[in-house]
Amino acid sequence: MRIGLIIYSLSGHTWKVAEALRDCLAAAGHEVTLARVEVTGIASRATEDAPLKTLPSVEGYDAVVFGTPVRGGTIPSPMRRYLEQLPALQGMKVALLTTHFFRPDWGSQQVVTALQDACEAKGAAICGAADVKWSGFGRGRKIKAAVEKLCQLF
Ligand SMILES: Cc1cc2nc3c(=O)[nH]c(=O)nc-3n(C[C@H](O)[C@H](O)[C@H](O)COP(=O)(O)O)c2cc1C
Repeated sequence: MRIGLIIYSLSGHTWKVAEALRDCLAAAGHEVTLARVEVTGIASRATEDAPLKTLPSVEGYDAVVFGTPVRGGTIPSPMRRYLEQLPALQGMKVALLTTHFFRPDWGSQQVVTALQDACEAKGAAICGAADVKWSGFGRGRKIKAAVEKLCQLF
């Protein structure tokens, strides 16, 4: 399959998981593209509402994974605005990735629901989701589990 990993990541956590996912999917024989959603100017918390610099296209993929951190229980502004401007995703197989700091019901679950709603409103079929709680012990194991969960969807 041709799979696009479209990622917003400010401090690098979500990107790190996406790189591991890219390697796993490529090892399974998929054609994988890893692309960033970025704002113009210097990336920082203060500039997250700046105009988007990169709007990765979803054209040509059989499936897409959207990945993002959690921001106060909401989708960070760059990823929210990126999803809003997307064309119809009719029939597109979509999976979701979040990274977060607190327990899942302190923001991550709300973001997964919001991402699912945004993608389904465009006609996408959500095939699964995985998250990585960055805090606490066993981060490497949590990353591996999330990557394997997503990899098995395709
Ligand atoms: C302003 C702000 C708000 C956050 N809100 C939440 C939250 O509601 N729930 C949560 O679990 N983590 C929250 N986090 C933690 C980030 O989601 C987490 O560190 C994430 O892995 C960062 O991903 P990135 O390095 O890809 O940007 C917040 C972080 C910041 C800076």
